[in-house]
Amino acid sequence: MTDNQSTKKRVFSGIQPSGNLTIGNYLGAIKNWVAEQHNYDNIFCVVDLHALTVPQDPQVLFQKTREVALLYLACGIDLEHCAIFVQSDITAHSELTWLLNTVTPVGWLERMTQYKDKSAKQESIGTGLLDYPVLMAADIILYDTHYVPVGEDQKQHLELTRDIVLRFNSLYGDTFVLPEVLIPKAGARVKGLDDPTAKMSKSSDKQGHALHLLDPPKVLRKSIMRATTDSENRIAFDPEKQAGVTNLLTIYQAITNMSEEAVLNEFDGEGYGTLKKRVAEAVIETLEPIQKRYHEMAADPAYIEQILKEGADRIRPLAEHRLYVAQKNMGIRK
Ligand code: TYM
Repeated sequence: MTDNQSTKKRVFSGIQPSGNLTIGNYLGAIKNWVAEQHNYDNIFCVVDLHALTVPQDPQVLFQKTREVALLYLACGIDLEHCAIFVQSDITAHSELTWLLNTVTPVGWLERMTQYKDKSAKQESIGTGLLDYPVLMAADIILYDTHYVPVGEDQKQHLELTRDIVLRFNSLYGDTFVLPEVLIPKAGARVKGLDDPTAKMSKSSDKQGHALHLLDPPKVLRKSIMRATTDSENRIAFDPEKQAGVTNLLTIYQAITNMSEEAVLNEFDGEGYGTLKKRVAEAVIETLEPIQKRYHEMAADPAYIEQILKEGADRIRPLAEHRLYVAQKNMGIRK
């Protein structure tokens, strides 16, 4: 994060430590954080409290939280421009969530697509699952955030965040900045390799579904070579008829920063075998240096603890100040 005099706009984003990060998390979020980090004053969070909205093994959660933070760094997050921290290390997130709950109608939360999807899979639905987007709103607005770079699936949560801000500000006076979502042009919705109609998800452990950032090259290649395609024998961006091929093309496009046209030119007259081979090469070439940096840093567990502590210590005053203003405006502080 840059110094306090910085006139740069603030970026905030986060990832749940609820599984092994995928190429979807990379292309939908981290890659863009890294590409734009010099233009903003950035805060990147590992949202462990959000992960608790579905059952987690405590030891695994603790370890995954560190793993996600290390992956931020391994992917190229630069601490000169960014603070990284763990959500639960700054208690203002939970405190503000309560205040925001008091202005958020339940109907707004029940309409969230992710809530509907996740709750349909569970017999008993925790209150946390419903309240999840309010905690997300608190994460964002505690830091006077202007921009939130995320994948397509978070767009609805950002709209809700904006609704909460508008409602709070109209009830209690100008308190929070109204944030805007930033969604990448390519890679905003990477699909599962096994089922290109569903989002690639880090919480799925089906083999051949996701490409994980820490998967060995052999595994990455195997999953890509086995990816579901079709019998059209035509390389085209056609999400309706050719969801699998489109997904592979999109991954390739996002990873290489090429335009759709350039990608289509490259594969003109080629078959699915060549497409898969090139996607595998591009993915492996991108992930190998990330994996190397990750393993070097992970060798010293104290390293990430120190970075996370420094990150939280540096930004806690921002969160505490904004929480205080909200409390004062609501009449519970002098
Ligand atoms: P999470 O942990 O599900 O995902 C982290 C980021 O990765 C993006 N993403 C994808 N992008 C493209 N294709 C995919 N298949 C794919 N899967 C995931 C997500 O859009 C996201 O940007 N609620 C958030 C975490 C969060 C947060 C926040 C984000 C909590 N507080 C404040 C921004 C700001 C979530 O569950 O992301």
